Amino acid sequence: MTRRGIILAGGAGTRLHPLTLAVSKQLLPVYDKPMIYYPLSVLMLAGARKILIITTPEDRPAFQRLLGDGAGLGLELSYIEQFKPNGLPEAYVLGEDFLAGEPSLMVLGDNIFFGHLFAQTLQKVARQKRGATVFGYQVSDPERYGVMEFDAAGRVVGIAEKPKKPKSHIVVTGLYVFDGRASEFARTLKPSARGETEITHLIQRYLDAGELEVERMGRGLAWLDTGTHDSMVQASEFVRAIEARQGLKIGCVEEVAYRMGYIEAAELRELAAARPNSPYYRYLGDLADDPEAAAARPASA
Ligand code: DAU
Repeated sequence: MTRRGIILAGGAGTRLHPLTLAVSKQLLPVYDKPMIYYPLSVLMLAGARKILIITTPEDRPAFQRLLGDGAGLGLELSYIEQFKPNGLPEAYVLGEDFLAGEPSLMVLGDNIFFGHLFAQTLQKVARQKRGATVFGYQVSDPERYGVMEFDAAGRVVGIAEKPKKPKSHIVVTGLYVFDGRASEFARTLKPSARGETEITHLIQRYLDAGELEVERMGRGLAWLDTGTHDSMVQASEFVRAIEARQGLKIGCVEEVAYRMGYIEAAELRELAAARPNSPYYRYLGDLADDPEAAAARPASA
């Protein structure tokens, strides 16, 4: 089981200015919690407990103030600074020591996923030891993403970053599983015409070697966009609607820590008691007292 994960949470967030002039994009609110809670909960659900957060030098203190060393969530969090947005593969170069040659999951700090059986899928891909897995998702505007090209038999034959003429509507989401060779491969990549190294080139290395798995995410799974002012509001509305309907939270990292067996009910109660004014923390207190939630936790917890 892959125990290591990376959250790439750097970049300048220029498309969201002035929101991101003083605050990192990945710390902006998505309804009732900071954006990074959503990708962090994805890694936690996959079983990763050693997690590296890559941020800009300016934003690192704010991320640390929010999440600390992760002990309160039963995690080991570490932080590294990326000085310039030189490309997504740089995460594997910066994270080389952290990864220690082991397979890992990486999620972009602005990607939000929600859907039926997603945790099971994550736990399945996290068991992969060799090769790479990426997730394909159908969108109406593929030219904004890494786009997959398929042959007549439905096999992926190529991946292009933001092509003017997309070869399909299936794009690569910001969730990647790579084996222990990712850092070595990432070092050899040259910047594209945009002046950045491209994650599509790293994926292509695995595709060329016949070692790429593509996991298709169906329409029942929500992969939300946070790239524009409008899509930020839509993401908040989506989370609010589901949370109100179910009375359950999306991307609540303390809840995931508890349900995965990373922390105990007493620790959850302590977190809740420390901030009694916020309904978010009252939710955690209620969860700690819920016998059904307790019964559904892993036996080995
Ligand atoms: O969201 C999925 C898409 O993410 C993929 O389909 C694309 O193949 C992939 O390139 C990426 O596209 P984006 O247009 O979203 O990339 P962007 O440059 O906006 O970077 C994504 C996030 O990663 C963003 O929040 C900033 C952060 N980032 C980006 C770069 C290039 C870093 O932290 N460091 C970087 O060097």
